[in-house]
Amino acid sequence: MKFSTLSTVFMAISATVFAQNSTDTSDDVVIANIINGKAASTVQYPFISQIFRDFGNKQFSFICTGSLIDQNYIVTAGHCVNDENYKLLGSNLFKVYAGSETLLSPTDKRLRTVTKIYTHGYSSKTPELDIAILKLSSPITAAEATPVKFYAYKINDNLPVEVAGFGVTNYGSNTPSNQLLKTLISVSSSQNCTDYGVNWSSNSGPQICSESYTGNDSCQGDSGGPLVAKINGNRVLVGVTSWGTNKDSNSNVLCGENVIAYYTRSGYFLTWIASVLGVDYKKILATY
Ligand SMILES: *[C@@H]1O[C@H](CO)[C@@H](O)[C@H](O)[C@H]1NC(C)=O
Ligand SMILES: *[C@@H]1O[C@H](CO)[C@@H](O)[C@H](O)[C@H]1NC(C)=O
Ligand SMILES: *[C@@H]1O[C@H](CO)[C@@H](O)[C@H](O)[C@H]1NC(C)=O
Ligand SMILES: *[C@@H]1O[C@H](CO)[C@@H](O)[C@H](O)[C@H]1NC(C)=O
Repeated sequence: MKFSTLSTVFMAISATVFAQNSTDTSDDVVIANIINGKAASTVQYPFISQIFRDFGNKQFSFICTGSLIDQNYIVTAGHCVNDENYKLLGSNLFKVYAGSETLLSPTDKRLRTVTKIYTHGYSSKTPELDIAILKLSSPITAAEATPVKFYAYKINDNLPVEVAGFGVTNYGSNTPSNQLLKTLISVSSSQNCTDYGVNWSSNSGPQICSESYTGNDSCQGDSGGPLVAKINGNRVLVGVTSWGTNKDSNSNVLCGENVIAYYTRSGYFLTWIASVLGVDYKKILATY
């Protein structure tokens, strides 16, 4: 996906060949993976979810990460469930699972089918509304996974946040990580967030900006995965991995060093999420 003249990457894995050059203008959705990561477990991420897509041949391949938010619902990124023209894909094209720190085989019996997809205005004109909720065919049991709660506070600069996913570990790779990985990043509201962002104006809106100076980053396949903060040792959901771009417009490396990344802020969508789940929003807030 490209926005304006900037080269950007949506952090979803695509079954198509990944374009490695910055002059490429194709709209192929690409994959994202954690850079500079460490192994993460389901003890830390009991809500971690994996999303597989059928690209038209009845074979499912891993495309995005997600988070279980209720035993029947997973939150992920809007671009994970839309085609390159922002058209919402059929729910029959997806299979999901929650509660495994390793990637499942696409034929694993534990995978649930998806019966309904909810989006909230995600379109070519409003790509910042990059969020979707998937309804599962049967509930994820308490023995399998535990839903995550939502972060209820204002997002300040330098808030320590962690991002996790099954994405690639090197930009340009098309192979997701078999093991869940996590890395620490921090929130930013520097001028660069405005300069490189699409409709970003502050971390109180639909997007959270993060500037990496060390190379810690999310990448293809991490899309839709959790951005979390820790409250009393519990990981709570702050955002959903969305997209990133290199600050050097001549560079085609869209994850890692010198990259600026944007996350969909889940708090912005809280009342909508609660209405999809059919619960009072207070019920899904973290109150640790
Ligand atoms: C860029 O990549 C595309 C797809 O891989 C290829 O068709 C094209 O020739 C490349 N362009 C340049 C300038 O290298
Ligand atoms: C930015 O947001 C405005 C209003 O919400 C919308 O009209 C415009 O198309 C958006 N631009 C982009 C590039 O998303
Ligand atoms: C980068 O991530 C590693 C763990 O993956 C962490 O130890 C390190 O502190 C992080 N660096 C910054 C600047 O956050
Ligand atoms: C903005 O990005 C440039 C280029 O990477 C960097 O040198 C500069 O320190 C950044 N500005 C801030 C305020 O972080």
